[in-house]
Amino acid sequence: MNDIIKQYVIEKEPYYRPVADEVELYEATYAVRMPMMLKGPTGCGKTRFVEHMAWKLNKPLITVACNEDMTASDLVGRFLLDASGTRWQDGPLAIAARHGAICYLDEVVEARQDTTVVIHPLTDARRVLPLEKKGELIQAHPDFQLVISYNPGYQSLMKDLKQSTKQRFGALDFNYPNHEIETEIVTHETGVSGEVASKLVSIAERARNLKGHGLDEGISTRMLIYAGSLIATGVNPHAACRVALVRPITDDPDMRDALDAAVTTFF
Ligand SMILES: Nc1ncnc2c1ncn2[C@@H]1O[C@H](COP(=O)(O)OP(=O)(O)O)[C@@H](O)[C@H]1O
Ligand SMILES: [Mg+2]
Repeated sequence: MNDIIKQYVIEKEPYYRPVADEVELYEATYAVRMPMMLKGPTGCGKTRFVEHMAWKLNKPLITVACNEDMTASDLVGRFLLDASGTRWQDGPLAIAARHGAICYLDEVVEARQDTTVVIHPLTDARRVLPLEKKGELIQAHPDFQLVISYNPGYQSLMKDLKQSTKQRFGALDFNYPNHEIETEIVTHETGVSGEVASKLVSIAERARNLKGHGLDEGISTRMLIYAGSLIATGVNPHAACRVALVRPITDDPDMRDALDAAVTTFF
C-alpha cells in the first residue's frame, strides 16, 4: 500500500453496535464488490457503519461529503498549475479507484445529477473511471468498492437519485435502533448511566412519532449523543435537551412546547 492511500486506513476499531444482520450482509456485498447504497435518516449510524466495515475489512476509506456545488472534477480530479507547468491531481474517487479504497459518497443526492453520472462506469461490470480531461481510463483496483448514502426522507422531485443511478446499487436500510440498543449506544458514546440514556431515547421516540405531524425529521441518535455528552459534563438535563434535542429541530413555538413537555415527563 503506498503513502497516498495509507492515510485513509482506519487503525482503531470504530465502535459500531450491529442492529440486525447488516455486518454479515455488507461483508457479502464487499466480497462481490457490489456498489452499495446505505439508506436511512440522518444521524442513525450510516457513516459509523461504513467506518467500522472499512476497519473490519482492513481497507482504506475515502469519504466525500457531497454538496450541490460539487463538480465532477471535485470527484475525479483536475489539472493544477504549478511552477513546472500543469500537473494532474487525482480527485478522491480517482484515488479510491486507482489504489483500492472504499469510496463513501455521503448524501449523494446533494450533488447535481451531472456530477452523479461520473460514478456510473464504476458501477458497471467493467469498473472503470474515465478521466476525460487527462485522456486516461482507470481500471478500478480489485479492492475498490463504491458506497453511497441516501436519506429517503429528503426525497423531492428536484432532489432524488435517478432510477438509472439507483438501480446500480444494492441497498441496506438503516433506521434508529430499538430502545435497548439505542440506550446502549448512547451510554457507550457519552458515559451517561443507562438510566439517563434510556430517558433520552424515550424523548426521541416521542419526537419521532411527531414526524409528519409538524416535524420533518425526528430526533436522531447523533442528537441524543450530543445531549448525553452535555449531561455527562454536568449540564442540567433540561437545558441539555433544550440545546441538543429541541431547539435544533423546530422553530415552531407549539412544537417546542410539546417537545419540552416530553423532556419534563422523563427528567
Ligand atoms: N449502531 C450504532 N453503533 C454505534 N454508534 C452508533 C450507531 N448508530 C448511531 N451511532 C452513533 O450516532 C452517531 C451518528 O451516526 P452517523 O453514523 O454519523 O449517522 P449518519 O451517517 O447516518 O448520519 C455516530 O457518531 C455514533 O456515535
Ligand atoms: Mg453520515
